Amino acid sequence: MRTVIIYESVYGNTRNVAEELAEVARSHGDVELFTPAVAPADALHGADLVLIGGPTHIHGMSWAATRQSGLAAPPVTGHHAAGADVPGPGLRNWFHGVGRVDGVLAAAFDTRLEGIEVVTGRASLGISRRLRHHGFTEVAAPRSFIVGRDNVLCVGETDRAREWATSVFDSLPALAFQ
Ligand SMILES: Cc1cc2nc3c(=O)[nH]c(=O)nc-3n(C[C@H](O)[C@H](O)[C@H](O)COP(=O)(O)O)c2cc1C
Repeated sequence: MRTVIIYESVYGNTRNVAEELAEVARSHGDVELFTPAVAPADALHGADLVLIGGPTHIHGMSWAATRQSGLAAPPVTGHHAAGADVPGPGLRNWFHGVGRVDGVLAAAFDTRLEGIEVVTGRASLGISRRLRHHGFTEVAAPRSFIVGRDNVLCVGETDRAREWATSVFDSLPALAFQ
C-alpha cells in the first residue's frame, strides 16, 4: 500500500511526529513524506492512505504570518533547526490545490502545547474539516501530539505517534470491507 504524509513544521516537532508515522507506515508498504512546498501536484495519485499534519498556531492551522512569527522567535533547543520546512506555502494553500478525492483514506494530526483544548486550540480540527470538504474518508479522529513549555515534544509523544499510526493501519482492513 502507498502512504503519503504531508506535514508542515517550523520548529521540527510536527516533522518529528511525521517521521515516526512514516516509520510505522514503512512496515505496510511505500511511504512518501512531503511538505506543502515540495509536494508535487500529483502527490496523492495512487495514495491508499494520506496523513496530514501541522503545528497549532493561534488556536488553529498556521498562516504565512504565524510561520514568520515563529521563525522570528528564539530558536528551539534540541532536535531540528528552526525554519527548515518553512519556505513556501503552508497546508491551507496546499489544500486549495486539492480537488475532489472522493474516498481516499486519510487522518489529521497536529502538534500543540500541553493544556486543555479549549485554551490551546488544535490545528488538526481545521485539517480534518478540509479533509471532509475534499471528500477524503477519515479513518481516525484528529490527533494532537503535545509539546512542553520548552517547545519540544513531551516524553512519550513519539511513542504515542507510533501507537496512533499502528491503530490507524489496524483499522484499515475493516474499513476496506465496509
Ligand atoms: C506563532 C505561533 C503560534 C502558536 N500558537 C499556539 C496555539 O494557539 N496553541 C498551541 O497549543 N500552541 C501554539 N503554538 C505552539 C506550537 O503549536 C508548537 O510549538 C508546535 O509544536 C510547533 O510545531 P513545529 O515544531 O512543527 O513548528 C504556537 C507557535 C507559534 C510559533
